[in-house]
Amino acid sequence: MAFEKISEIKIVPVVKVFGADDGVNVVKALAAGGIPVAEITYRTAAAGDAIAAAVAECPEALIGAGTVTKLSEAEDAVSRGASFIVSPGYSDAVNAFCKEVGIDYVPGAVTPTEIMHAVEGGNEVIKFFPASVYGGAKALKALGAPFPGIKFIPTGGVSAENLAEFLALPNVLAIGGSWMVKDSLIVEKKFAAITELAAAARNIAEGKLL
Ligand code: 3PG
Repeated sequence: MAFEKISEIKIVPVVKVFGADDGVNVVKALAAGGIPVAEITYRTAAAGDAIAAAVAECPEALIGAGTVTKLSEAEDAVSRGASFIVSPGYSDAVNAFCKEVGIDYVPGAVTPTEIMHAVEGGNEVIKFFPASVYGGAKALKALGAPFPGIKFIPTGGVSAENLAEFLALPNVLAIGGSWMVKDSLIVEKKFAAITELAAAARNIAEGKLL
């Protein structure tokens, strides 16, 4: 199950690829830094090919699909071998498909009503996005009272500076973010920098001092 590995690693890098090779290079760089997980987003046309290449060439890593807003993207991601699907919001169609094929789905929700809708769809892990805009760790702490069984993956405005604050909460499964895989690092092929940022993030998540 994808959620078990995500909860162990505690960090889900959100990756935007510009070509199929980016997926493999970025996933290898992240894994070298101790984060063998990537959410490859459907923000570019290269997402599907990048997922397929990363799944084939980086078997040690958990490869998921992100920014999945349509059923067709979820179908494409699963056909390319993605292990989990993330949406910025909640989609009944994507949710039904994920449940049918048995793949882990992380829908986005921030309000109690949205969270209840996602829970009614059979979900227990929710992306809290954009976390910094919707109240950050304070909001997640408050949501823990009415939703004790729900785990969140806060994403959006999370970085090395504040990830420890989120991970300290009992209802946070992992955090997500793009700071260690910024577009410029990928375009300029600065993979060593990605490895360094990933290692720094992993150390913070594990409570080690830098
Ligand atoms: C996402 O879709 O998860 C976000 O774009 C990631 O947010 P960040 O860029 O603020 O880390």
